[in-house]
Amino acid sequence: MNPNKALWEKGDFTRIAASMRESGQALIGDLGVEPGLKVLDVGCGDGTTAVPEAELGAEVLGIDIASNLVAAGNARARELGLDNLSFQEGDASAMSGVADESFDMVVSIFGAMFAPRPDDVAKELVRVTKPGGRVVMGNWIPGDPTLVAQILKICSSYSPPPPEGFVSPMTWGVEDTVVERFTGAGVARERISSHRDTFTFRSSGTPTELLADFRSYYGPTMNAFEAAAADGREADLHAELEALFNEQNTSEDATAIPATFLRVTVER
Ligand SMILES: C[S@@+](CC[C@H](N)C(=O)[O-])C[C@H]1O[C@@H](n2cnc3c(N)ncnc32)[C@H](O)[C@@H]1O
Repeated sequence: MNPNKALWEKGDFTRIAASMRESGQALIGDLGVEPGLKVLDVGCGDGTTAVPEAELGAEVLGIDIASNLVAAGNARARELGLDNLSFQEGDASAMSGVADESFDMVVSIFGAMFAPRPDDVAKELVRVTKPGGRVVMGNWIPGDPTLVAQILKICSSYSPPPPEGFVSPMTWGVEDTVVERFTGAGVARERISSHRDTFTFRSSGTPTELLADFRSYYGPTMNAFEAAAADGREADLHAELEALFNEQNTSEDATAIPATFLRVTVER
């Protein structure tokens, strides 16, 4: 079994994505998506950004490694009557079946960063983008004090060390590394830019209830809880995460947790 696929098919990421819809839509609203534009959304999940791209009139294909999320995305597209949006299974490291230079815009928000072989990912994102087109990535930043970087950091401290040769997804949040990967894929340095941006997780429940969703449905957190349980440290992990979620909440009566990410743009 492909461990990358197994991680994301574990649980049900749609339960987390429910807290990401508003910021996903706002992010896409900034990109100049217009009717007829051909957009590829890589590591699309169930369409947090692919749905707003299609609602703006683009012809959208979502690609994701997890078959359950592809099915959930296609169900959402049908329910919303979006016949310009479809989802299919695929791997950001090797997008076989996606033709060279076939998309005007390639978007990957917290998606392709989780694929193995990051140098291949950069080459694939560039390969499928038309000359004159754009790649836009959103990547979590290692060591950042906000929510997702801290969840992943805390979880890794309760988990066994990764296998030899594993490259952390968080390296996609380091500007120099991103530049190295895209220049290695043949893009000129001056065509690569990045800046910090904010993505807010929102839910109508409490931060502790949002943490319960991460614990039950988010593959990386589920794995960390399994490893912690094996060491008798489940309660410690829960307490650390509960403190994090509550400290970072900015809402008085619900949950709104802003998280910083690196927004990368590559002009092809
Ligand atoms: C944190 S989720 C983000 C999903 C979506 N972009 C969103 O913002 O809601 C990461 C997504 O990347 C997908 N993914 C992980 N590894 C992948 C790979 N090698 N190729 C394609 N998708 C991948 C996962 O299945 C998951 O849907």
